[in-house]
Amino acid sequence: MGAVLTARHPAHMEPPLQISPSSLADPGPAPADGSAAAASGRKVYVETYGCQMNIADTEVVAAILKRAGYRCVESPEEADVILINTCAVRENAEERVIGRASQLSGLRAHNPNLTIGILGCMAQHLAASLPKRAPFVDLVMGPDSYQRLPDILAQTSSEALLDVRLSRVENYVGIDAARKSGTNAWVTIIRGCDKFCTFCIVPYVRGRERSLDPDEVLRQVTQLASEGFREVTLLGQTVNSYHFEQTDFADLLRAVAAVDGIERVRFTSPFPKDFTERAIAAMAELPEVCPALHLPVQSGSDSQLESMRRGYSISEYRDLVARLRAAIPDLSLSSDIIVGFCGESEEDFRQTVRLMEEMRFDSAFMFKYSERSGTAAHRKLPDDVPEELKLKRLQEIIALQEQISFEVNQRWVGKSVRVLVQGNSKRKTAEGVRNRFGRSAHGKVVVFPEEAEANSLRSVLVDRATSHTLYGSAQD
Ligand code: 5AD
Repeated sequence: MGAVLTARHPAHMEPPLQISPSSLADPGPAPADGSAAAASGRKVYVETYGCQMNIADTEVVAAILKRAGYRCVESPEEADVILINTCAVRENAEERVIGRASQLSGLRAHNPNLTIGILGCMAQHLAASLPKRAPFVDLVMGPDSYQRLPDILAQTSSEALLDVRLSRVENYVGIDAARKSGTNAWVTIIRGCDKFCTFCIVPYVRGRERSLDPDEVLRQVTQLASEGFREVTLLGQTVNSYHFEQTDFADLLRAVAAVDGIERVRFTSPFPKDFTERAIAAMAELPEVCPALHLPVQSGSDSQLESMRRGYSISEYRDLVARLRAAIPDLSLSSDIIVGFCGESEEDFRQTVRLMEEMRFDSAFMFKYSERSGTAAHRKLPDDVPEELKLKRLQEIIALQEQISFEVNQRWVGKSVRVLVQGNSKRKTAEGVRNRFGRSAHGKVVVFPEEAEANSLRSVLVDRATSHTLYGSAQD
């Protein structure tokens, strides 16, 4: 058992952590207590698993450590500290992370002082059991503890250090994330989740929902625009549940879209039930807000939605999509779908298939239900769909969605799309050309062979489309 700073059963929320407002508002320069000096030049490598919120959190971690004197490196072999920022949403993600941490611990053969830490949702979820399952890990830290990372890394202990306090206030205000991408910037506007869908671990590992002050959001976005970012993606587990005093999500969208230099605004993921008419109107009216939406439905069956405790019916979801598509005619729509959730009958599953055929999503992330300890489903509902049946259902909807995505993407053939260029694709074509790639406003990956600078906007005439990619040539 590790030296426990704080460890909690994941099903229990901590009382609010007291953080003084001054330390939140302006973390200021590196601390003068010697931890920066001690860290000076130490090299840290961070590896990220999971969702965009985790990518954004890794950028926050990098900023905190840089301020404390660390240098970020691109390979684990160079590092004095290796941090793995993890996901707990599905079990296989956890297995993979433990395997990877074990593999990385092999680097100790050359670097006996190597520190290995597990951060994020899985650290929070497995907390006290991790040091036993992964004895090669020195540090276990949940997503609300990153401001304490420099201090904790400065401590020496022969046992694993745990810090998995959840906070009701931690929003990492004043920290300008150290971003890798130069085109799209992730901006976390709301942390945690209050929905408690029965299958989902997020409220237990990311804590209560709290929105970032709009002034801070605008400060960050203005700063990003001044650094040359043209696109921002607003992030939150339920991003459109955002509210801070009188400001709701629609107000925030309008304010962000008005920032000079920001040409594209995206957001992910909205919660269907919290989509207001005002937010639909803002999307429809603001040319900066991209006509692309990821709107997780999870199932096509009302009884499944009820036992998932999603808070909406299929007819309400259908109605919302109709209103969105009426307001934003060429809306690109994607979704998340779970098969094999507790009690899913053949008829429930058929309803999901029919919903997919009806909605014709541009794309979908599809999952087999994976029971997570601490959730309401784990406590109350038997995980009773056999694994082979889950897999069979998953394969069926993946094949269906591939076909639908292929068909939906054909509408772009012969059209010209504006592409925000991200860079060069990794592989060369058979002719030895290194293609460029970027995204259209509708969120489609677009590949073309002409020279183009990263972060430039180019018009591409699409001549071919697969289920995941549009291909064409630049016209300007
Ligand atoms: N099992 C399978 N899929 C899950 N998701 C969340 N929790 C689980 C789970 N326990 C999926 C949902 C969610 C996406 C991020 O991950 O579809 O929208």
